[in-house]
Amino acid sequence: MQGTHQTDGLTVTPLTSAIGAEIEGVDLSTPQPADLADQLRTLLARHHVLFFRAQHLDLEQQKRFTEGFGPLLTLPYVTPLEGEPQVIRVYKGADERGGVFGGDWHTDFSFLERPPAGSVLSAHTVPPQGGDTLWVSQAAAWEALPAPLKELLAERDAVHVGKPYGVKWAPPLDTQTGAGMKMARGDASADEDRLHPAVLRHPLTGRQMLFLNPTYVVRLDGMSEEESRPILEAVQRHAIRPEFTCRFRWSPGTVAVWDNLATQHYAVNDYQGFERLMYRTTFGGLSPREMAA
Ligand code: SIN
Repeated sequence: MQGTHQTDGLTVTPLTSAIGAEIEGVDLSTPQPADLADQLRTLLARHHVLFFRAQHLDLEQQKRFTEGFGPLLTLPYVTPLEGEPQVIRVYKGADERGGVFGGDWHTDFSFLERPPAGSVLSAHTVPPQGGDTLWVSQAAAWEALPAPLKELLAERDAVHVGKPYGVKWAPPLDTQTGAGMKMARGDASADEDRLHPAVLRHPLTGRQMLFLNPTYVVRLDGMSEEESRPILEAVQRHAIRPEFTCRFRWSPGTVAVWDNLATQHYAVNDYQGFERLMYRTTFGGLSPREMAA
């Protein structure tokens, strides 16, 4: 992987060899010409997550940028911003205790039949310390997975459920995300089994990638939860190895877009006493079944 380089007027600075790149030379507040939108889709496929500093987008601009990657989605279970059904206000107040939205490794809403193909997060208020987000490449993780685990997972489905939003697995009250985010919890339909292939193939790069995450996957198809647990835990320990990750320090106005099906991500809850406000939008694409490896 190259270091900082120019490509068609953009400056691309990879964060690590596995994942993440900062992009300079683009103003996301204006409509993107088709060739630029194509270029960004190609960069996203290669780096999995792109960062654009000092953009300061309003919601209309964020939605238009998101639509450059795919149709805007309206998601269940998280109460959207009033009057903006496709926008989630990701907020934690200075006096909030307990969890943080996205505060464990996950792939956004992987339990849906068509999970978001990608997500866009725009930073408005950033704490003076902490509040970073980590992403991990599930293509790099698959490529380095030991052969016996590859054999076990190839052509196998995994069962995803909306655990945090359902009934059976919903987290205890004192560990739930605080007052800054309104969740619709306790919906039995979130507990329904959703079968997705454990390994996907990226439609643009052809790379294979793991498609499992500990927030929503309960077991492998054809196995009980007890039989699956040690396998899923071993795969997850491997899937989040530091060399497959990047960690991003936010600044106000920064916009990130990530390939949801090629990554897991983790919002770090380490800024007690400070406020953090982001707006998230998501876009659709192929279903995991359509991307089976
Ligand atoms: C998310 O999981 O989408 C939120 C990530 C973050 O707040 O950093």
